[in-house]
Amino acid sequence: MSKKIYIETYGCQQNVSDSEKIAGMAKEIGYALCSDKEDADLIVYNTCAVRENAELKVYGNLGALKALKNKKPDLIIAVCGCMMQETSVADRIKRVYKHVDIVFGTHALHKFKELVHAAEQEHDFISDVENIDGEIHEGLPIIRGEGVCASVSIMYGCNNFCTYCIVPYVRGRERSRDKEDILAEVKDAVKNGYKEIMLLGQNVNSYGKGKDITFAELLEEVASVEGVERIRFMTSHPKDISEELLRVMSRHANICKQLHLPVQCGNNRVLKSMNRGYTREKYFGLINMARSYMPDITISTDIIVGFPGETTEEFEDTIDLLERVRYDTVFSFIYSKRAGTPAATMEDVISPEEKKSNFNRLLDVQNRICAEINDTYLNKICPVLVEGRSKTDPETLTGRTDGGKLVHFKGSDELIGKIIDVKITDPKTWSLMGEVYEQA
Ligand code: 5AD
Ligand code: SF4
Repeated sequence: MSKKIYIETYGCQQNVSDSEKIAGMAKEIGYALCSDKEDADLIVYNTCAVRENAELKVYGNLGALKALKNKKPDLIIAVCGCMMQETSVADRIKRVYKHVDIVFGTHALHKFKELVHAAEQEHDFISDVENIDGEIHEGLPIIRGEGVCASVSIMYGCNNFCTYCIVPYVRGRERSRDKEDILAEVKDAVKNGYKEIMLLGQNVNSYGKGKDITFAELLEEVASVEGVERIRFMTSHPKDISEELLRVMSRHANICKQLHLPVQCGNNRVLKSMNRGYTREKYFGLINMARSYMPDITISTDIIVGFPGETTEEFEDTIDLLERVRYDTVFSFIYSKRAGTPAATMEDVISPEEKKSNFNRLLDVQNRICAEINDTYLNKICPVLVEGRSKTDPETLTGRTDGGKLVHFKGSDELIGKIIDVKITDPKTWSLMGEVYEQA
């Protein structure tokens, strides 16, 4: 009987992708994936450090594992990911959470098999949280999640040092994979039945620096791989996005007309203090250029509310920006102080209550805009890539439009993995309800 591994992943797509590699490496040493931690011989928490909430959740869940470890003393508990690259966090885990066997950082992912092997042999605490700029380790096995979409990392790390962000400290310097390795992974995913490829990087637009290839060129090559029905990518940084990229997107039918372009805020003083490298005017210029190449493009963004020093008057510029751009989706966050980043020592000028009230206002404005945009989809016929059964309603299938909008409709299992036409009959704020469209 094989041993079992349970993996819990926090945070972004990059962590999800790392967990797929952990699953792949675990299989090579005899661990099959399981979905209930009670059944596991090895539990891995792959952590996120971007905001404090995510960290608190990890501490809470780790504390709760103590009882399980008491019941099953041979259980191995490993904690990895971005939090482990923060020295104070790794030390705290060692000091307070004595039931944890292994901690390893983002730079030690490729050593997973040896670390587990060591834990199986001895009962000492095992730690590998070295802080290095980062390397690239090709050839790690991957067990992808079920479904029709495969994520492929094209680069790791970040060099931007936005003043609020911990990522450059925990993921190391920007480094791009070789084009050949990326294309081989894409072809392999297609061979295994995946229809949609999501290219991942903290800042995909700086892919290829020092390699004589741009992101736009890479994208064009991925679009030409036989069998790739859809391609998306994230995240784009407004300071690095090129017209060449927009041109490539507009030229290829299988590159989805969707852009995630985090703006973070709409006020020029705050943007400067965040070290974002663009102004709101430059950002509006990019949005206009994207829409001139692709009038129907869907655009999403990330916003931070309550950055230190931001006044409510300055926050009004963010509201104004939302009204002007009219995003399809906004991921909004209240600023979370990250030790060691420049913003951590900057002073607040408004109270937490005022930040919360600004945040709620932003949600109200954006919900209204989302609903207004989705209403324009009524009676439209949209090509939808069918992803599977809805988790909440087994009668219903779910899929996405080219622009990434979630669509729910009734249909049979044979449709899963296909791109079919769906007529939108009932747009909601967060998704679109529809029916399979059959031409008369
Ligand atoms: N506080 C709040 N949000 C943050 N993000 C990054 N760092 C912080 C922080 N300290 C947000 C940014 C980024 C997204 C992934 O997370 O909006 O684009
Ligand atoms: Fe963080 Fe800025 Fe890098 Fe994005 S671009 S990961 S926000 S430092």
